[in-house]
Amino acid sequence: MKRNEIESNTKISIIPEPVKIISEEGIFTFNKKTVILTDLKLKEIAEFLRQFLAQATGLNLNIKDLTQIEEKNNTITLRIIDNMKSLKHEGYDLNVSQDKIEISALTPTGIFYGIQTLRQLFPPKIESLSQKNLEWSIPCVRIEDFPRFTWRGFMLDEARHFFGRDIVKKILDLMAFLKLNIFHWHLTDDQGWRIEIKKYHLLTEVGSKRKGTIISKRKGIDGIPVSGYYLQEDLKEIISYAAERFITIIPEIDFPGHSTAILASYPELSCIGGPFEVSTRFGIHKEVLCVGKEKVFEFVQDVLNEVMNIFPSEIIHIGGDEVPKRRWHKCPDCQNRMKDEGLETEEDLQAYFTNKITDYITSHGRNLVGWNEILNENLDKNAICQYWTHNFDKVLEHLRMGRNVVMSELNAVYLNFPYNLLPLRKTYMYDPIPNELERNLYEHILGLEACLWTEYIPNKKRLEWHTFPRLIAVAEIGWTPKKKKNFQSFLKRLDYFLKRTDFHEINYASKDDFEKEDIKS
Ligand code: ACM
Ligand code: ZN
Repeated sequence: MKRNEIESNTKISIIPEPVKIISEEGIFTFNKKTVILTDLKLKEIAEFLRQFLAQATGLNLNIKDLTQIEEKNNTITLRIIDNMKSLKHEGYDLNVSQDKIEISALTPTGIFYGIQTLRQLFPPKIESLSQKNLEWSIPCVRIEDFPRFTWRGFMLDEARHFFGRDIVKKILDLMAFLKLNIFHWHLTDDQGWRIEIKKYHLLTEVGSKRKGTIISKRKGIDGIPVSGYYLQEDLKEIISYAAERFITIIPEIDFPGHSTAILASYPELSCIGGPFEVSTRFGIHKEVLCVGKEKVFEFVQDVLNEVMNIFPSEIIHIGGDEVPKRRWHKCPDCQNRMKDEGLETEEDLQAYFTNKITDYITSHGRNLVGWNEILNENLDKNAICQYWTHNFDKVLEHLRMGRNVVMSELNAVYLNFPYNLLPLRKTYMYDPIPNELERNLYEHILGLEACLWTEYIPNKKRLEWHTFPRLIAVAEIGWTPKKKKNFQSFLKRLDYFLKRTDFHEINYASKDDFEKEDIKS
């Protein structure tokens, strides 16, 4: 049989580009006798595949136990292989021949990703939600695949604007399709608190509502109220929806800054006592939690207890970014705390706060991630730094101590920038491994995460425009080996990929928008 290894072509056009594709002659054709054979451990994934195929093809394939069936023709086999050295944790092998399809992996995650690739071997119409009376076939191929990075994330800010469950689920669906595995949920900020905390009901009764949103300094606020929050039950449902798609949800509760919505609800947690309002403007806010007051630590621990109860994620995000020190500098309680703890500066006071919360989280068997402002010399060795901007030297120091970092470089993966400031090409060309990093430390870059801050993103249409197609580029950065990344090839595959997502009605940016830089240069 003739074999030719290919980079990519229009027939086999996959995002993220797999590690190795060997195309073979022939096709596999589906019919109503095609059977899904599976390990019983993979029942749910097999069901996902069955339902996916049923939507567009109308074929309601039987699922059978792999160990009970002899006949292997006209089958799709999903198989866990415990001892195959060539397979990596999230990797899979996908073999399509004329009489069968086989997906093998070390883990259910790998099988799930094999299915996401299988989806892309079909013509785009397979994504249609209404049945087409067509003959469905896919090209014969052998694919070996595994990700470059273990952290392939997307952050959504629902504090500045609230989008709600359906939009989040749609994002999770698309993330799964792209083999993204971390959904970082920014749930609290100066402009809104969006998670029910039973012990502190004012956080949502007061903190989830603002009177309006600033238009400009001259025009003031628009007077359109913004509100919304998730009940704990809603969160649990969304967490399991994500888990079925092999996505971990990491909640972010931003302390001790970005806390105006907390202080509007509980002004006694501030340095000066309030009263405060949930903020209607953006930017950095001077009111922060008072680190001198014992009840602030009680509050933080109580909130974290509920958060850890809701979210099974091993990692919790504690924010820690953009903390002005003005209030602490003048607050007798904060100054006393500094004296008692032998802290020289307010920066040291933030480190003290961070490390106390860290101890609390680690004593509950969890780990944490925080923005790069949390870095300090006594930080727990397992704490993960999420780099976004400034002080990269400190991040390098952290790496050189053998500690872990997730890269969210503002100039590359902050999707809130419009395309004229952050064109698709610039995002695609970003490499999360910093040039100055020694090779033996590469493994401490866990991966990358695109961030969508929503100050100026009030609705689903804008959200999708900012996110797509740049998040598709981020998925390829996170997965594909560096030497296989190629922007021209990506653009070709993107064109085809968007034909698939057209069936999911996404308001992605047009070529004219995302190629702005190309037109200029
Ligand atoms: C951030 O963008 N303030 C983390
Ligand atoms: Zn204080």
